[in-house]
Amino acid sequence: MTSTDHAERTRAHREEQRPDSDPASDRSMSVSEIRTSYAEFADGIRRLEWLDRLITGRYRRHRFGDVDGEVLDVACGAGTNFRYLPETVELVGIDISPEMLAAAEAQLADLGREGTLREMDAQDLSFPADSFDAVVSALSTCTFPDPVAALQEMERVCKPDGTIRLVEHGRSDLGPLARFQEWRADAHYAKMGCRWTQDPREVVEAAGLSVDDTATGLFGTITTFEISPAPSGDR
Ligand SMILES: C[S@@+](CC[C@H](N)C(=O)[O-])C[C@H]1O[C@@H](n2cnc3c(N)ncnc32)[C@H](O)[C@@H]1O
Repeated sequence: MTSTDHAERTRAHREEQRPDSDPASDRSMSVSEIRTSYAEFADGIRRLEWLDRLITGRYRRHRFGDVDGEVLDVACGAGTNFRYLPETVELVGIDISPEMLAAAEAQLADLGREGTLREMDAQDLSFPADSFDAVVSALSTCTFPDPVAALQEMERVCKPDGTIRLVEHGRSDLGPLARFQEWRADAHYAKMGCRWTQDPREVVEAAGLSVDDTATGLFGTITTFEISPAPSGDR
């Protein structure tokens, strides 16, 4: 399937799923607009990282704490995942934003860890197929213009006996919180480039990925996944 097919499939899927009250769910900034936004956000994200860890740390630890071998962190941002990965892994992080990658570099230094960081689009990874033992990503699909293409890229670069682990956020299952998210969906997208009313389970399903285990928490706003890549010939 080509990337254009993926984009069309995602758009059609979002259109089908979109309630009338969710005007932000089928909108997409371009990759370069997102890169520009994150140039602005990088400092603030680094400063507030402790708060992010307080809220999401246990979900990251649970999903990422047992990976091993060569591990790719897709859209690694400021490197918040790094401390939750075992010290023995060979870490590679990619992100579209040079400013976020600079924060990730500082994170590696703070943690006294080694890793390779590269500027790259998650929707078009420049690694060969079957490169990594594990592919991890957190709080990322809500910002990708084509999250289905990005998830299929994660599957492509993961070894057939490897594992894909995600910690994603989205629409709450708590009525008042969900209604607040829907009310602010457009404004939040315009400010942060984040579709916070997205349902990560729908995106994972649209990408055709095979979920071994999934869990939700924090009033339904956090969903985590353990995914087995399909055999190379079936992708
Ligand atoms: C909300 S942050 C999450 C960062 C990190 N994964 C974490 O859990 O804290 C989203 C990240 O996705 C990156 N990003 C957005 N679009 C991207 C793309 N097409 N390719 C690679 N990275 C992208 C942004 O630069 C940003 O660092």
